[in-house]
Amino acid sequence: MMLDNERANFATKLGIILATAGSAVGLGNVWRFPYMAGQNGGAVFIVIYMLCVLLLGIPCMINEFIIGRHAFANTARAYRTISKSRGWMLIGYMSVLTGFLITGYYAVVSGWCLQYVWASLVGHLHGEPDYYKSYFASFSSDPVKPIFWLVIIMLMTYLIVKNGIRDGIERASKLFMPTLFILLVIIVVASCMLPGAHAGIEFLLKPNWSMINSDVFLSALGQSFYSLSIAMGCICTYASYFSKHTNLANSAIQISVIDSMVAILAGLMIFPAAFSVGVNPDSGPSLIFITLPNVFQQAFGEWPVVGYVISLMFYGLLTLAALTSLMSLVEVSTAFCQEEMKITRKAATLIVVSSATIIGVFCSFSLGAYDGLAFFGLSLFEIFDFVTGQIFLPVVGFLTSVYIGWFAPHKVVRDEFTNWGTLRGTYFHLYLLLVKYICPICIIFIFLHQFGLI
Ligand code: PHE
Repeated sequence: MMLDNERANFATKLGIILATAGSAVGLGNVWRFPYMAGQNGGAVFIVIYMLCVLLLGIPCMINEFIIGRHAFANTARAYRTISKSRGWMLIGYMSVLTGFLITGYYAVVSGWCLQYVWASLVGHLHGEPDYYKSYFASFSSDPVKPIFWLVIIMLMTYLIVKNGIRDGIERASKLFMPTLFILLVIIVVASCMLPGAHAGIEFLLKPNWSMINSDVFLSALGQSFYSLSIAMGCICTYASYFSKHTNLANSAIQISVIDSMVAILAGLMIFPAAFSVGVNPDSGPSLIFITLPNVFQQAFGEWPVVGYVISLMFYGLLTLAALTSLMSLVEVSTAFCQEEMKITRKAATLIVVSSATIIGVFCSFSLGAYDGLAFFGLSLFEIFDFVTGQIFLPVVGFLTSVYIGWFAPHKVVRDEFTNWGTLRGTYFHLYLLLVKYICPICIIFIFLHQFGLI
């Protein structure tokens, strides 16, 4: 039994890695990375992406680890604790707000994944190529069905997060992440065994230097940032449950390796199957909800049971990836409400989940059920995506890097990095160099690139 003033933490090192990797591994790994790699130079892109993870992703993740673990508190309070200033504290609040706003629309798409698990289960996912398009269009713009699945996925998240860090998030991650990985590997093997699969493998991995330009580099930077769940409070909040013995730099490296591996494997799952049936893969929601069900049906349809099982496994995998990310997003605001409003975890989770569900309902409605929910020609869904992803995210990431690099008490940063001198901290100076100069510059580039200014 935990005393009131005793704060929860992860029980094991494996739990830390799997839960944080669970936050990082999400829809972005499946619907964005593979396509970017295929389109932008294959193996060369993968190398560039890894470089971005090294230069930007890992240092930014360590920043958040340091802030979170130093305070052992929710993200807003963590920024206040380390900085002891109101100004910097605002970044913490912004981070929590970003995480909260994203929860609503991330949950909508997570609900879609669940609906497709159901659709695969009851055998709705087969027909002519056009069928998938109209199926998705009518489902996503329906006023009731997506809401039903949104509520179900939020309920699942609630049931996990309300149980706390060890019994909820850690336990679920230890079950979900290995399952996700096994499903992924099975589909990769099946996909690579299809006739003509090598063309897809080649598309993904063949190095092509001529495709590389500054555009590709900037997109890779942006993707590394998003894929590692940086600047949304998730990493910082989870780090507040780490132990004093957790090696922050090593953990960041391990999590990044898992995240990148899943992204590459996702490519090896998608492209061989798509090329074997001569379908051109795309990215985003249309890839996973329109193109791929058709590809899997065509590729494996000859053996009816296999087609059925593969599609079920694929949406199961996607749901797990989305759910583990959703858990981390809900945890950001839950920790905030619990600690700032001094209420029980159960009540905090309930407040967060229900208010995020309401946001999700409006986002979902804005996709067709009610056209009135569009502003400046963008649906509410797109506006949330834009404001959080393109504005809040880089701003929080930039200010956090600048703060840690230039303003944070050097001793605190060093102590956290080296676990109070018990680790050698070989790369401390390199890390500091990246955080001071490279990360802020990279983030400014990402920001300007998004708005087409460079
Ligand atoms: N990293 C997740 C992905 O790749 C997205 C995400 C960002 C999830 C931030 C949670 C928090 O899809």
